Amino acid sequence: MNDPVIVLYFTTDRSLLRQLMKIMRMHGPDKNEVFPLPHHHKLCFLKNIITTPNIEVGEYTYYDDLEDVHNFERNVKYHFEFTGDKLKIGKFCMIASGVSFIMNGANHLTKSLSAYPFAIFGNGWEHAMDGREYPVKGDTVIGNDVWIGHKATIMPGITIGDGAIIAAHSVVINNVEPYSIVGGNPAKVIRKRFDDETIDHLLELRWWDWSEERITRNLHVLTGGNLNLIVP
Ligand SMILES: CC(C)(COP(=O)(O)OP(=O)(O)OC[C@H]1O[C@@H](n2cnc3c(N)ncnc32)[C@H](O)[C@@H]1OP(=O)(O)O)[C@@H](O)C(=O)NCCC(=O)NCCS
Repeated sequence: MNDPVIVLYFTTDRSLLRQLMKIMRMHGPDKNEVFPLPHHHKLCFLKNIITTPNIEVGEYTYYDDLEDVHNFERNVKYHFEFTGDKLKIGKFCMIASGVSFIMNGANHLTKSLSAYPFAIFGNGWEHAMDGREYPVKGDTVIGNDVWIGHKATIMPGITIGDGAIIAAHSVVINNVEPYSIVGGNPAKVIRKRFDDETIDHLLELRWWDWSEERITRNLHVLTGGNLNLIVP
């Protein structure tokens, strides 16, 4: 009875069935699990814990918090529904503890004589913003396979390209090109990860959209450096 196929045939235990089906697939972790590492509840597949409608997260993107994975949404700051801006994060991203996203609700006037938000206090000041608008810099868009280091801060309206790396404690105020490494405050390009030809090829390949089976067949290629070894 040790052969999984035989056990599968005879059992009526649903949880055992599920486990066996899983073993037989062996194409990586279950993307619908909240905590893909058994007994380690500080790393989660992020899409499975998001409650805010204006945050979208792709499959396999994980968030690793030193204390509590629910800190992720607490660290998406000034994200008010009435502002309407979205935080969109692609697949297979790696987001470290304490990463924060400042959203457009944080913006005050910067070109006026005063940045003070008089209108919110009412009592005769409620019309202070009539005919004026707070700056809105658009959605925050993080590509696929992006690694965001410990306590980095991403400012409103930023786009980070596929395969980029954000160094720990960076403050990202400009868009980040695909497959570049940026760091510092304000974050500056440290280096490109590959030559332009390789980057173009990777952007065309979009390996993160492959089936789990194809990703599994190519694991050693993805963790190596030779694009010519990719198998269908
Ligand atoms: C960005 C990072 C990946 C670069 O690593 P690396 O390729 O080994 O780079 P090096 O340490 O050789 O540094 C390369 C340059 O980047 C700079 N740099 C590295 N980390 C930096 C940071 N956090 N902020 C600003 N600049 C940084 C270095 O000063 C160096 O500059 P120089 O070339 O002018 O001397 C790494 O420093 C980092 O921040 N990793 C994130 C770790 C993390 O937060 N993990 C969380 C758990 S997943």
